[in-house]
Parts: sequence; C-alpha cells; structure tokens
Amino acid sequence: MSARDDIAALDEAEARADHARLAAEIAAHDRLYYQQDAPAVSDAEYDALRHRFDAIEARFPDLATDDSPSRRVGTAPSGGFAKIVHRVPMLSLGNAFASDDVAEFEARIRRFLNLKTEDSLDLLAEPKIDGLSASLRYEDGRFVQGATRGDGAEGEDVTANMSTLDDVPARLHGKAPAVLEVRGEVYMAKADFLALNERQAAAGERAFANPRNAAAGSLRQLDTAITRSRPLRFFAWGWGELSASVADCQSGFIERLVTCGFKVAAERRLCRGAAEALDYYRDIGLRRGTLAYDIDGVVYKVDRLDWQARLGFVSRAPRWAIAHKFPAEQATTLLRAIDIQVGRTGALTPVARLAPVNVGGVVVQNATLHNANEIARKDVRIGDTVTVQRAGDVIPQIVVIVADKRPADAVPYVFPTVCPCDLHTPVVREYEAVVARCTGEMACPYQQLARLEHFVGRDAFDIDGLGAKHVEAFWRDGLLRDPADIFTLADHRASLIGREGWGEQSVDNLLRGIEARRSIGLDRFIAALGIRNIGQATARLLARTYGSLAYWHAAMRRAAAERAASPEEMKKADKVGEAWAELCNIDGIGFAAADELSAFFSEPHNLAILEKLETALDVQPVAAPRTADSPVAGKTIVFTGTLDKMTRNEAKARAESLGAKVAGSVSAKTDLVVAGQGAGSKAAKATELGIETIDEDTWLALIGDG
Ligand code: IVH
Repeated sequence: MSARDDIAALDEAEARADHARLAAEIAAHDRLYYQQDAPAVSDAEYDALRHRFDAIEARFPDLATDDSPSRRVGTAPSGGFAKIVHRVPMLSLGNAFASDDVAEFEARIRRFLNLKTEDSLDLLAEPKIDGLSASLRYEDGRFVQGATRGDGAEGEDVTANMSTLDDVPARLHGKAPAVLEVRGEVYMAKADFLALNERQAAAGERAFANPRNAAAGSLRQLDTAITRSRPLRFFAWGWGELSASVADCQSGFIERLVTCGFKVAAERRLCRGAAEALDYYRDIGLRRGTLAYDIDGVVYKVDRLDWQARLGFVSRAPRWAIAHKFPAEQATTLLRAIDIQVGRTGALTPVARLAPVNVGGVVVQNATLHNANEIARKDVRIGDTVTVQRAGDVIPQIVVIVADKRPADAVPYVFPTVCPCDLHTPVVREYEAVVARCTGEMACPYQQLARLEHFVGRDAFDIDGLGAKHVEAFWRDGLLRDPADIFTLADHRASLIGREGWGEQSVDNLLRGIEARRSIGLDRFIAALGIRNIGQATARLLARTYGSLAYWHAAMRRAAAERAASPEEMKKADKVGEAWAELCNIDGIGFAAADELSAFFSEPHNLAILEKLETALDVQPVAAPRTADSPVAGKTIVFTGTLDKMTRNEAKARAESLGAKVAGSVSAKTDLVVAGQGAGSKAAKATELGIETIDEDTWLALIGDG
C-alpha cells in the first residue's frame, strides 16, 4: 500500500494520533537542526515525515493548529534570537481611512503648532510597503547590528541575516555620523515572492500566504544560509539613534540615505498640505498593480524635522506622521456556522466560520460578526453567501449578505441567552444591549482561559515558550486556573515532562522563561491583569502616576472603597473620596477606566489572585522618563488659560515627556500651576491653596525652552 492509500484509509482517530506523533517528531528534528545544528536524520527522511504530515493535514484540515509545524513557517523556535533593546523605541503609525481623516491630520498639526493659514505645511508622501520593519545600526560607517521591531521596545537580533541582503551595505558610502540607525522595511517583491512559492511547491514545502509572511519567515531563520537564499530587499524610510544631525527635513534625510548606499521608495513625493497628498494617494492607488511590490497604503510625514520634534508622539505613534490605507479587499464565500467566543471580560463574540476564501492574497476562514445587534441588522444566517473584507491586519469582517443566494430553509440566527460554557451561566446585555456578557466572571472557564491567554500575551508577560496554545492545553488539564498558577508550574516539572510534545529540555526552557519573567515592570504587570478599559497606554500612565505596586494597589483599594461608599458614609470619612478623586484627576484616565479599576478592586476573587501574584513576583517600579535631568519629573502640573508660544496640547505633551503628570484641575496634590492669559478660577484656587503659580515664560525657562 502506498503512503497516499494508507492515509486515505485512516479514520479520524487514527489520523489524529498519527498527526500528533508526526508533529512532535518534526518539531524535535527542527530543534536539532535549527537550534543545535545537529540533524539526526537525512534530509530525505525528514522530507518523508513532512510529506506524510502534510498529506494528513490535507485530508483532515481540522487537525492543523496554529503551532503545528506546517503553520510555524519562519517563526524561529523560541529563544532562537537574542533580544535587543531599541535605544530609540520603534513606534507604529496612526491610520487614516478616508480623505477627511487626512484633512483632519493636517488640521490637527496646524492647531498643535499654531500655524497661520498662509504658513505652508510640507508633507513627504511615500508608499507604505507591507513588509516588516527593521533597524540597522552603523557605527563609524560599519554595519554592526540588525534588529526586528519586536514589541517596539525590544526586538530580535537578526544581524547575521540582515547582512545577507544586497540592499544592506556593509559600509556606508561617504561621510556619515559616528552612530546612525537606519530604519526601514524588509520586504519581498511580487515577482520574487511568486518564484519563491514555485520553488517551495517544487520542494514539497508549504507556500507562503503573501509577500509579507514570506519576508518575515525568511528573515527569522536561525540558519543564515536559508535567509541568504531568499530574495529579501530593504527600503529605508527613517532612522533611530543618531549621533549628529544630517538634514533639517525628512526628504533631505532620505536623500542622504541614498548617498549612504540605501534604497528608498522612488515613488515618494513632497506635497504641499493634505490636498496635494491626496492627489498622490489617488495617483499611486491607480498604479498600485503595476508596482514591483505590494503596498497597503501611503504614509505622510511632516517634512520639517524641527516641527516633528515639537509634535512628538502620542501613545505609540508620532503626531507628525500617518498611514493612509487603501480600501479593504473583498471576496464572497459561504457562511458555514456561527460560533460564540467568550472573551476575558465575559463578552460573547459571534464568529463566522467560512468556507476558505482568498481575500487579497490571504486565505480567510473566520470573520468576526461583532455582536448580536450586528447579526440582526445584517440578518446574517447560517447557509448564507456573504461578502467578507480584510483591511490591513484587522480581523476579517462580514460586510453584507448576498440576498439572492439565500437557501430557502435558512432561519434567523437566535443569539444564546446563556454562556456556551459548561456552567450555562446567564448572559446579560450591557451598553444599550449591544454587548452580551456572561455573568460567570472567574467561575466561567472560558473567561479564565481568555484571561490566562491575555496574561501571557506579547504586550503583557510575553513568556518565552508559553504561547496561547500551551496555555490552553495546560488549562484543559487543570494545570492552570489563574495567572498565579503559572509561577508554580515548576512544582509540576515531572508531569510536564511526561506530556506529549514535551521533553526534559523543552520543559526546562519553559521554566527558565517563566523564571525570567518573575521580575517585571509595573506597567506590564497592570496591563497583564486584563482589566476592562485598561490597555497598555493606560497601564503605563497608572504605573507612572503611582510608581510602585504597593502604592498603586493601596490607592486602588481606597478608591474602590470610596466609590462604593454611600454619599452619607463619604461625608463621614475624614478624607472624603481622596483616592477616587486622585484617580479621576489623572489626565488620560476617563471615568469609565476609573470605574473598571474600582470594580476590579472590589472583587474578592481578583484580590486573591493579585495577592498570590504579588508574593510570586518582583514587580519593578516604573520611573518617570528622564528624571535625572528634568526639573519637573514626578511633579503634578496644571495648565490653565491661553498660552502664547504653544498650544495647551503641546505644553501638556512636553511636560509629560519630561516626566511630569498633567492634571485637569487644581487640588492639594498639585505642585505647579502654569497660568496663561485669562487664567480664571484654577489660578485663584492655586493661590488659595498656596500652590506655586508661574507664567508661560517662566515655565519655558524652567524646562529649558525659554
Ligand atoms: S514610518 C514612527 N514609512 O508601517 C514610525 N513606515 O504601520 C515610523 N511602513 O512600523 C514609520 N512603509 O513597518 C514608515 N514609508 C514608510 C513605511 C512604513 C511601511 C511600515 C513600518 C511601520 C508600519 C506602521
């Protein structure tokens, strides 16, 4: 019997067992080959395993999981690359989808910089290539380090692989600053991508879904020879650390990079304001299909570098640049089923299971249906033919149903009134009935799992070797129930080693990964808790405001108690609502976030888990940035009245970048009030409380901008 016939004869249970065995075996050979440079089988034997494995997955597609070897194309086995901390963080870009967003981008900048109507605002427009960003460090003109973006703060060391690219000069041409970090996009041209996929197919390897995946998979190879064999290119769009200035505008800098030996997008154009930038967008949109590489939009950047510096950053994106995306790509397919997923906060999200369809180069099988109202509004029914769309990295969505293809027996979808978990806990409707939420809280197994997955996610604990799939498997077997259990996994070392797909070495790697995360910054710790409305930016704000875990915890418990107290009780308390008021007074914390924090800290289950985590971990205080040389670090400042030399937003951003906290109203906690023209009641209150009040010029002199 040939291998194919044998697979055709397998029933599902046999296939599952064989698939799991092969997955473990292939993973073990991958480790030997990539990590230890010590293959235990010949290439032909390895290929035979892969062929059998692929043939089983082809017959039983449900067996393919995200971490099965077939999907792990390019992702290096964990711990493969050393980590590199970016000296200048690698940020991302805000998005514009419509012309109005671009006009608003210009208007926002004009307001921020207080520009006059007649002042022209030059924008450099460039194609946005859908690759992966990388940072190349040059010291004394020599290429010394290449890093991926990673989470923006810390990337992976891909120096050896980057040096195989023709577009990465080993030495800079001409004179260059002593330190120059060039940033740009690693990508694959369309023709090269198609040719690579042909070669992959001929070699029995899996094809890449799109040029971006192919580029990422090719760069993140532990074997540099593989990267060298792949047609990777690099185009420069910016810079990181720099020891001396080389230009006073973005376009000038980019031209300097060309003389240094880099490739940049030839299609770039310097535009006068949003109107010209939009012409460029339309132009390149029409030529999109004829370009040698895939683009998913264009990027506009304020050309003057002194203006870029004044505009600065908000959250993780610069105020001086924006990505203008092309409209989403669409396709039609069959809706086979609607599943309900329960998120970490208990929200029930309907997910459409689709017949696989290619949408702009990516195979889509799932799409979000958002919520019950959305299903009702679009009248989506199982069996319908639907139009799906994908916009950038956003989860695919169902746009509309194709009415004339509806089967006669399709019935309206009935949204569940109980949680799909074993407890069948009732579902409540919140936010004007839009969000359906399971009331099981920590008792609902789905919520437990989703919280665990969030906890180990990239923006949270990001534990090497502990991906969402492992968490799910451990959770199924009762090894993990809440996040604190992760830190006692070492007690189960023996039983972990006995698990399928795990060996002594991989378990010890995992335990080392966990140990390495026992010490963590307060901002990541707060974000990891997965409190509703408390994302990364808010977590960072809280960490910077409260400083240490002990102080934050105590303040949140007081705020929660004050929030819960009746008005009568609050009157009796000697410090009326002080912690609650302090929380609400943090600029950037809305009422909804303050409310969720109080709710979290009023829940005994949460407090118990928090206390377990506090015992197991060493949570590091977060220092305000640049405390060493900043006269206002750690101070709470209130701006009031009209400022002359800068807008209030700019002043606020500047103060925050110097480590100050900016509050909206004056209280006993305020250290300094900066009063502009026409300052009214806030300035009066400051005088009453004896708080130092200064004018704008004194403020500028204080921070060294005078
Ligand atoms: S500028 C401070 N320019 O798009 C961030 N990015 O969505 C500066 N990208 O992470 C980014 N082409 O990987 C910039 N011409 C271009 C780009 C570009 C592609 C990528 C880049 C970035 C992502 C943000």
